[in-house]
Amino acid sequence: MLDILKSIRSYLEMEKESGISEYLFSTKTKENVISLLKNEISFCQKCPLGKMRAKAVLGSGNINARLMFIGEAPGHEEDIQGLPFVGEAGQLLTKIIEAMGIKREDVYICNILKCRPPQNRNPLPEEISMCIDYLYRQIDIVKPKIICGLGKFASQTLLAVETPIGRLRGNWHEYRSIKFMPTYHPAYLLRNPQDKKLVWEDIKKIMEALNG
Ligand code: URA
Repeated sequence: MLDILKSIRSYLEMEKESGISEYLFSTKTKENVISLLKNEISFCQKCPLGKMRAKAVLGSGNINARLMFIGEAPGHEEDIQGLPFVGEAGQLLTKIIEAMGIKREDVYICNILKCRPPQNRNPLPEEISMCIDYLYRQIDIVKPKIICGLGKFASQTLLAVETPIGRLRGNWHEYRSIKFMPTYHPAYLLRNPQDKKLVWEDIKKIMEALNG
């Protein structure tokens, strides 16, 4: 509760400094809601990762996007820049998006965890359960038509299953009535480039659904 109050206060101070004093409560736009959420996570100390981060990473892209990509957690570059998928795996994700004939800015990109785990280790179950509500709120704000789960953590968490990613990928699933396509994580593809063709199969299904 204290965290929430602190973030509201800091947000209001920022607004005041930039000369805005009234509109926040009269217009509950998507932009306002997402920037409040961004501010909230920047103060988050719900789990120990909060003390280790340089920057919390909410997400980037179009908050009205029809397609949302969800990865695992920020890495080193993301932690420094406060933006998702800006390292090597991110460059590959950008190439995949551009190969779909769309721009990175047209989709929305985020992660299961908002803070970097040390040495990029896997997210712990307790970190996921502390952090997941932020992602639920993001999905509610963006309301994408399709979600692409990048890798095991995003896919298993949102689908609430323990099925291996190799069996989940390539098939349509549903997350709260939103079409959900799991595929391999770009970081996995950097280590296993022979599986790029499988990801492209999954991506083509997404393109068909977007255009259909
Ligand atoms: N890997 C992820 O899952 N997310 C990022 O933002 C970067 C790398």
